[in-house]
Amino acid sequence: MDHGTPDNMNWAGLLQNVLVMVNLRQITCGSVWFSIPEEQEAGVRVGSLGKDFSPPYQLLTQEYLWLDKNTGDLYTTEQKMDREELCPEETKAKECIIIHNAIVGPSADLIQFPVAIEDINDNAPLFENSDIFLNVSEDVAVGTSFLIDDQAQDKDTGSSRELQYHLQDSDGIFSLKVEKGPVIMLVVQTALDREIQDSYQMILVATDSGPNPLSATLNVTVKVTDVNDNCPRFVSESPACVIVPGDSYRDMVVAQVRAEDLDLGPNAAITYSLSPKVSERAKKLFSLDSHTGHIRLTQDLQSDSSEELVLKVLASGHHCPPADTWVTVSVLPMASKAPAIKIRFIAEHQNQTIVLPENQPPTVLALLELGGESDLKGMSLIIEGEVPFSLNTQNGKYLLSTSKSLDYEMKSEYHISVVVRRPSAEGFVTTRSLPAIKVRVLDVNDNYPHFLQSHYELQVEENNQPGMALLWMKASDADSGDNGRVTYRLGKHTSTIFRINSLTGQLSVSASLDREQQDMHTVTVSARDSGSPSLDSMTTVSIHIFDQNDNAPVFRTPHFIFFIPENVPPLAQVGRIGVTDPDVGENGNIEVHVIDSSGKFVIDNVQKSLRCTTSVDREMKDQYELQLLASDNGHPSPLTSTAKVTIFVEDVNDNQPKVILPNSNLSCLTVSPATTAGTMVMKIYAIDEDSGPNSDITYIIAAREPAHKHSPFRLDSRSGNITLVQHLLGEDLGMHHLFIVVSDKGKPAPLHTTVWVNLLVNETMEPCHLDSLPKSLPYRLAPPPSEAPICRTEGGPASYTQLILLVGLGMMLASICLSVITAVLYLKQKKRCLQQNKKGCAEDNEIPLRLKAKYYSDE
Ligand SMILES: *[C@@H]1O[C@H](CO)[C@@H](O)[C@H](O)[C@H]1NC(C)=O
Ligand SMILES: *[C@@H]1O[C@H](CO)[C@@H](O)[C@H](O)[C@H]1NC(C)=O
Ligand SMILES: *[C@@H]1O[C@H](CO)[C@@H](O)[C@H](O)[C@H]1NC(C)=O
Repeated sequence: MDHGTPDNMNWAGLLQNVLVMVNLRQITCGSVWFSIPEEQEAGVRVGSLGKDFSPPYQLLTQEYLWLDKNTGDLYTTEQKMDREELCPEETKAKECIIIHNAIVGPSADLIQFPVAIEDINDNAPLFENSDIFLNVSEDVAVGTSFLIDDQAQDKDTGSSRELQYHLQDSDGIFSLKVEKGPVIMLVVQTALDREIQDSYQMILVATDSGPNPLSATLNVTVKVTDVNDNCPRFVSESPACVIVPGDSYRDMVVAQVRAEDLDLGPNAAITYSLSPKVSERAKKLFSLDSHTGHIRLTQDLQSDSSEELVLKVLASGHHCPPADTWVTVSVLPMASKAPAIKIRFIAEHQNQTIVLPENQPPTVLALLELGGESDLKGMSLIIEGEVPFSLNTQNGKYLLSTSKSLDYEMKSEYHISVVVRRPSAEGFVTTRSLPAIKVRVLDVNDNYPHFLQSHYELQVEENNQPGMALLWMKASDADSGDNGRVTYRLGKHTSTIFRINSLTGQLSVSASLDREQQDMHTVTVSARDSGSPSLDSMTTVSIHIFDQNDNAPVFRTPHFIFFIPENVPPLAQVGRIGVTDPDVGENGNIEVHVIDSSGKFVIDNVQKSLRCTTSVDREMKDQYELQLLASDNGHPSPLTSTAKVTIFVEDVNDNQPKVILPNSNLSCLTVSPATTAGTMVMKIYAIDEDSGPNSDITYIIAAREPAHKHSPFRLDSRSGNITLVQHLLGEDLGMHHLFIVVSDKGKPAPLHTTVWVNLLVNETMEPCHLDSLPKSLPYRLAPPPSEAPICRTEGGPASYTQLILLVGLGMMLASICLSVITAVLYLKQKKRCLQQNKKGCAEDNEIPLRLKAKYYSDE
């Protein structure tokens, strides 16, 4: 087959709607239609287009069908058509139609033709579960039905969907009832009895009804549950007759009756009892265990004659009449004479009582021998009960010895019962024929005193009353007498303030404890018994001392003295307040406050430092006195202490000099031309409110007007005296303006003030008037020092280094800018100097200040 050629694929791309599933009635494209059963092999002929259309033929898609180009015959392809897959929605008795498109005829007409996919029974029914379990009570009525909560599903349509159900292996006990839905029910057909069969296994089969039917199975398990429908019955093995020898002894089991109940669990519980009709003698002689059915002797039999006792035993269950059985006990007369037992003690004894120290290896106690006139054949001696003693035969004699070492603390006295075992018609019977041998165990000091705890923990408040009892130490010793009498003492390295009462074990402390000295003590206590040799053991006691608020806070010094620069920023640290409290917890949690404070200073209790809240001004107040109060948080009452603080405010150059004389820039003084050289013409006087170098003032003439003249006036930089240095000439007549810079020597940067001094040289000596000053300043002063932090502000070392970094960076930038500007200005200035007369430049050197700007010029 050559389907799937490239030109077909072009068509497939053009038409998307290749597979159209529609109802048959919707198809209007003509009379050609085909049908084919699903799941056909490749190459099955579906039909032919050749009858209705002329060649050539071409199918648009060749997924499921292949069309012969020349004949128009349609065949199935290897792609099988699964009806349940192609038409999943069309299963309910509707037909599954697939529309195919083909091009036919010489004129290439597009036709559509439907192909119906017929259902075949290709799907088996399916149960949801593989097993289903039902509980049915054994007393259920015949005809009762139980729902089987599962049903088979079948994907096929039509007839194959109608499923038939039947039961296999039900043996007629159960039948099936299927109602519409379908609802499948199991119906009980015969009476059930759990005691006969307690479960049934069946198979539920669902079969569809195609020509080749398929089926599914479901395992159904019915569990029959118990009801109390059985009563106790005595079993056949339950004894009816028993024989007991006349010398039988107390507690011997005579017989065991046994009944059974076929029910389960509590329904099968049985209680045994003796019938009230049993004779008084029998009631006295025998007891019956209501659970186990054991009949025992209540006393030793000492019977010389034979006797027959009849016991009626009842077995009762819940809601049941009791079952009964009869047990006849035949008592035989005692054997002619009990055999005698001769004892030869090997261990020391007194009145048949042997005294043995504990912990001894197995020791021989006595030699026993059977004797007497009676027939000893087949007789043997045995020890009754579980005791640490054994009998070993040696040449027809018996050695009585301990089988393991004895422990006084476990049991201090034993009674050894030796009995004779002899054969009888019913097996072996035993006879007691010997007074018991007593063994008393002697205590040996083999137990160490034992403290209840290997370690004791104790908590005590400090400042206790001396002699206070702390703890009762108690060590027990399993030995008796002196071996178990314990005395107490303290370990060698224990502090002498602790005492112990050697007899009572009471631990006490003779001193008052101080937590601040030592907050924990360890005491070693030993307990020694009075055995010989004595045994001892040790324990330790840890005594934790609780704090009391017995210490007031302590300042490092009663008087703190701090120096701070003025103008510190708010919240700057003034100084650290050292204060400690040896108590712990809240008792040592200190808070410090400033008392009688104006609010200028506060305590930062986190860092325990004194801080200023506002900036301080030395020029206002240069010293503060404070009172500090430290208080702990202790209970019952906090303790306090006080300290004094003196804060000295150090000066900072924050005031610029103030010029007092001359009182105005416009002040003017007339100088006579006749004034002799060296005369003090006037004095500049300025003050500075700072102290020290910050107020050390110097005066300098920064500029003059007229500038070109050689000035006859000189200024003394320290005193501010302005003197005439030479005789005044004609050219000196007129107004002299002196621009004076007044500086202090403050750190980190000096501060400046400027003032004009105006001197008029005129022989008229008339008062001098001034209305205006030279128009512009001859120069600009260096900028005021930047506001560098004067007071160390609080902050971590990180922020401090950051600050340094930033300042450093800023300074670097500033200095670069400055040098560039200076360089540029310098070059300009040089140029201008060359152009102007040389005088202005020469005055440059008179100004020792850092000047940045060009000189004044009146052009
Ligand atoms: C300044 O003048 C005053 C008088 O007014 C004089 O006492 C003083 O010595 C002068 N100082 C100097 C340094 O010339
Ligand atoms: C001196 O003062 C007189 C009168 O005020 C004035 O006329 C004269 O020009 C002045 N001399 C000089 C050199 O300024
Ligand atoms: C005098 O003039 C200078 C410069 O113009 C100025 O800085 C200063 O404050 C003035 N002094 C007074 C008292 O006016």
